[in-house]
Amino acid sequence: MSGDLSPIDKAKFVAAKSAADFVEDGMRVGLGTGSTAAWLVRCLGEMVQKAGLKFRGIPTSIRTAELARNVGIKVISLDEAKWLDLTIDGTDEFDGDLNLIKGGGGALLQEKIVATASDQMVVIADIGKEVKTLGAFPLPVEVIPFGWQTTQALIEEMLISMDVLGRTVTLRMNGELPFMTDEGNYILDLHLQRIGNARRLAMVVNQTPGVVENGLFIDTCDMVVIGYGDGRVESRNINEGTVEHDWLDFVESDNLFIDIANWGIADRREQGFLRYPNGFIMIEAWPRSPGPFWFGVAAWPWCCDLLNINDPENAVKRFRGWACGCFLGYDGWCPPRGSIRGFG
Ligand code: 5RP
Repeated sequence: MSGDLSPIDKAKFVAAKSAADFVEDGMRVGLGTGSTAAWLVRCLGEMVQKAGLKFRGIPTSIRTAELARNVGIKVISLDEAKWLDLTIDGTDEFDGDLNLIKGGGGALLQEKIVATASDQMVVIADIGKEVKTLGAFPLPVEVIPFGWQTTQALIEEMLISMDVLGRTVTLRMNGELPFMTDEGNYILDLHLQRIGNARRLAMVVNQTPGVVENGLFIDTCDMVVIGYGDGRVESRNINEGTVEHDWLDFVESDNLFIDIANWGIADRREQGFLRYPNGFIMIEAWPRSPGPFWFGVAAWPWCCDLLNINDPENAVKRFRGWACGCFLGYDGWCPPRGSIRGFG
C-alpha cells in the first residue's frame, strides 16, 4: 500500500472499494454524497471503464451527478428509476443499531429519499464515524428559507422536552451567506451532544412547521462497511447479524488518484460545525510525496472566512496560495474523535 494518501482517506477508500463490489450488471444504484461516496463513484467509474460493468446510477446531489458522469457512469433520475436495488452512501455517525446522522455535506434530503426507495442501503465509513450514542456530530435539519428564524425558535422550544444534552441551534453558513442545499433550502445544525431517543426526535423534529427533513436515518441502513487506515475492512450486516473481515491491499493507480490534489486539506469538526469549542479551527495538510509528514495550522474564525472554508473546492485553491507561511510542525494533537473531512 502506498503511503501517499492520509490514513483517513485510505480508510474511506478501502470501505468504498469493498462496497463497490456489491454493484452488479443491470442494477439501479443510489450514489451518495460526500468524500467517502466520491471514492465509491470513482471506483465504480473504473469498473465501468475497465471491467465493462453496466449499471445505472441515481445521484443524491448535483456534485455527485457531475462526478458520476465524469467517470463514465450512466446517470438517471429517481423518477426514471422509480425503485432502486441498492444505495451506497457515507455517514457522519453510525451507532450499534446502524442508525445514522447524515447531512454533514448538506445532501440529507435527496439522500434520505433515495435510500428509502432502495431494497438495500449500504453505508461506507471510516472507523472514526462509529459512536455509542448518536449526537456528538451536530444534527442537520433542512428548513425552508421562509421564516427560518421562527422555525429555529420552534425547534429550540421543542428540544426542551427532548432527551438531549445540548440545545444550541445554528444556521449553517457558506462564508457570509447561509449555506443553501440543492433544493434551495437552509440547514440548521442542532448541537445536541447526545441524543437519548433518536427515533422519537426524528419524528418530532419533522412535525415542526418549516422543517423539510432531518439527518437522522432510523432503520434505513442494512449494512455498514467500515474501513481502517491500514487497509482492513469490516462489514456488519444488521439483518443477518453477520460480521465479516477483509483486507484490501492497494496501489494508488493513476486512474483513480489522478484527480486528487497534490495537497490534501482537512478540517476536523468537533462540537460545532468546522469549529473547535474554543473558537478556532484546525486545518491539516499533508504532501503526497515523499512521505507521511503532517502539518497543521490553527486558524481563528476570521481565517475561515478568508479561506472560505465552507466552500471546500475554493478553500483548497486559496489555501494553497498562502499556506506555506502559516504551517506549524504538527503531529498528533487532536480531539480523540471527530470527523475528518478530506478535500481535494
Ligand atoms: C452528505 C452526507 C455525507 O455522507 C456525510 O457528511 C459524510 O461525508 P464524508 O464521507 O465526506 O465524511 O451525509 O450530506
